[in-house]
Amino acid sequence: MERQDQTMLEDRIRRPALLDRIMTAKEAASLIKDGMVIGMSGFTRAGDAKAVPVAMAERARTDPFKITLLTGASLGHDIDRMLTEAHVLARRMPFQTDPTLRAAINRGEVMFIDQHLSETVEHLRSNQLGPIDYAIIEAAAIRLDGGIIPSTSIGNSASFAILAKKIIIEINLSQSLDLEGLHDVYIPTKRPTREAIPVVACDTRAGVPYIPIDPDKIVGIVITQEKDSFSTIEPPDADTKAIANHLIRFFEEEVKIGRLDLTLNPLQAGIGTIANSVLSGLADGPFHHLRMYSEVLQDSTFDLFDAGKLTFASGSSITLSSACAARVYSDFRRYKDRLVLRPQEISNHPEVIRRLGVIGINTALEVDIYGNVNSTHVNGTHMMNGIGGSGDFARNAYLSIFVTKSLAKGGRISSVVPMVSHVDHTEHDVDIIVTENGLADLRELAPRERAERVINHCVHPSYRDDMLDYFRRASQRGGHTPHILEEALSWHQRSRETGDMRKPPARAAAE
Ligand code: COA
Repeated sequence: MERQDQTMLEDRIRRPALLDRIMTAKEAASLIKDGMVIGMSGFTRAGDAKAVPVAMAERARTDPFKITLLTGASLGHDIDRMLTEAHVLARRMPFQTDPTLRAAINRGEVMFIDQHLSETVEHLRSNQLGPIDYAIIEAAAIRLDGGIIPSTSIGNSASFAILAKKIIIEINLSQSLDLEGLHDVYIPTKRPTREAIPVVACDTRAGVPYIPIDPDKIVGIVITQEKDSFSTIEPPDADTKAIANHLIRFFEEEVKIGRLDLTLNPLQAGIGTIANSVLSGLADGPFHHLRMYSEVLQDSTFDLFDAGKLTFASGSSITLSSACAARVYSDFRRYKDRLVLRPQEISNHPEVIRRLGVIGINTALEVDIYGNVNSTHVNGTHMMNGIGGSGDFARNAYLSIFVTKSLAKGGRISSVVPMVSHVDHTEHDVDIIVTENGLADLRELAPRERAERVINHCVHPSYRDDMLDYFRRASQRGGHTPHILEEALSWHQRSRETGDMRKPPARAAAE
């Protein structure tokens, strides 16, 4: 090995005894046996293990084996696709976004456990799940004491590494050493005598900036240099801009009434194009000294920093588009003091979210007239991605906001329906619903009042008359939450049968 390479490795692997444990991804993959439970780093495409899972998929082509795979959230680099195509995944949790895996889940081939992101490691800790045979963790470096310095996400990596029998580390040379010091690893104490989690502000540091582990558990170190996958968010369009504008006007009104001030409360924004563009839109409002207590830090976080609007952001991962990543990582020190990455059980912890009074902004697949939200199941049966952290935030937020475009699939689907076909967030957890048509503030309203507000403010005009008609007829039948049970899911049924929720005359008129 050249001297320069040796020095570079010693900067990254600072415990000399571990240098002997460097191996190839293929050698590391050969350690994984059929039936094992694997905890792998990776949260919304950031900080995922990149070489060993690919080698696992390659090995499975000639040496079939199956595992239970736990991660923080979704993975990049088509890893879920490769593992699915190689039939490696028996069980997968707690979140995914890959189309190939999604199809295998919906065929019933992969058992997917769709879980609140804050809960997975609690289940591990209390032996309801696991034990973890191997943790496979991407790191920027390993400290002299063996502590792991994670890269662009923490997710569940800390508890995976602490609880696993053995650890494989991928040292990624493309991840900047400037990431050191960014993380705050705090692990809650045992229940039922757990102490309060000492995070009392977005910028509280409660733990240590590395994952403390017994270095003897590290059985392999693989050197990689592939960058994180970039995010796939689309630029804002007219609808997402309209949604952002409705929300900005709502926040301005809350300030006028005196319920919030111009710094708002700590903000959380969910994954995806809509939530990202809503947050970016805040850069144009009168707000200042904003703070984020969120899960994924997307481009919008850095747009707000650059606009001078954001003072601090706490998350569990940083997932950026390629243009934004180039801007941020070429001068990371400019942002680092205003950022912290935490384990996802802390970034999403109900106790902290409730304490800080977070404003949670998440995206719905569909909402119903009473404010129930479906974030996960298309037509009630087919998994999209998973609930992710949306439930952690929605139930505990000061303001729980759900955004969605009022139409999907070119108008063939209304995202506002009489009754959601699957419930992730009940009406009790949902305060505000926003579509491009308007904003429905549902706080302190009874179900009949909520329905009127959702219909008048959120439903697309092409579905409004039908929805009003449904609600009027349902109301005549009585009930606290009126429904015509035999008709409540008829819009979905029509969509399943014809690909279109519209009644035939409305469909014909539109075509
Ligand atoms: N019925 C069927 N499909 C629908 C739909 C509906 N009511 N509403 C949207 N879709 C489809 C869209 O057509 C699009 O399909 P495509 O990928 O084939 O183009 C897809 O769902 C994504 O919708 P889009 O409008 O682009 O929104 P998005 O990218 O913001 O994603 C969710 C929306 C709900 C899928 C996504 O936010 C999610 O998975 N949420 C759950 C997890 C979560 O909230 N995590 C954050 C917590 S911090």
